[in-house]
Amino acid sequence: MIITIDGPAAAGKGTLAGILAQKYKLAYFDTGMVYRAVGLEMVLAGQDIGDENLAEAVAQKLTFPQMMELSKHRDFRSNVGGQAASVVSAHPRVRAALLKMQQDFACNPVFADGTPAQGAIYDGRDTGTVVCPQADVKFFITATPEVRAMRRFKEFEAKGMRTSFETVLEDMRIRDERDSKRAAAPMKPAADAIIFDTSDLSIDEVVEKACKIIENRQKNS
Ligand code: DC
Repeated sequence: MIITIDGPAAAGKGTLAGILAQKYKLAYFDTGMVYRAVGLEMVLAGQDIGDENLAEAVAQKLTFPQMMELSKHRDFRSNVGGQAASVVSAHPRVRAALLKMQQDFACNPVFADGTPAQGAIYDGRDTGTVVCPQADVKFFITATPEVRAMRRFKEFEAKGMRTSFETVLEDMRIRDERDSKRAAAPMKPAADAIIFDTSDLSIDEVVEKACKIIENRQKNS
């Protein structure tokens, strides 16, 4: 089984993906990591993230182990990492260079310890539209910018990262705009995606709705 979850930052995709991965024993691919890795690698090397040629060269060389190593850096999940990822992900040749790595995972899904899995769950912006258009179940999870910014602000606070709610909200608006307006694979729901607005839903409610849909699909397949 392949499940995709797309949507804007801090809508609850990662939390939902993690719970569903455990419940249905699926390997999980957080596809934002590939763009964060390329963006952060360039920032750390002092390179211009707006330069598509340079970004493409970094993307072409990216390996899974290198991405995992970069993910330990304090800026991987910060606003710096998020904005850099958003900028490099708007380059069509960067997206093309990173597509195969993401698609291969659906053919050979593995858990974090390397053992094979029976299926995969993806989260990102284009996983239902471009990476895995063949997915069995597609979700598009969203929430208002204010609700998402508050969730992200609390996550940063809990990690001891100093920022303000206003900064996080502004960062989110800039990223939403760039991710949804770019020419290459813009963030949008797949035609056959189920859309959830999680602004007024608890995580348990979102999980319950998602599980009903998945189990119905399994019965009818
Ligand atoms: O999900 P995230 O916040 O880690 O994603 C970081 C950036 O990467 C996001 O602003 C846009 C880009 N991205 C993308 O273009 N396509 C994906 N499938 C996942 C992320």
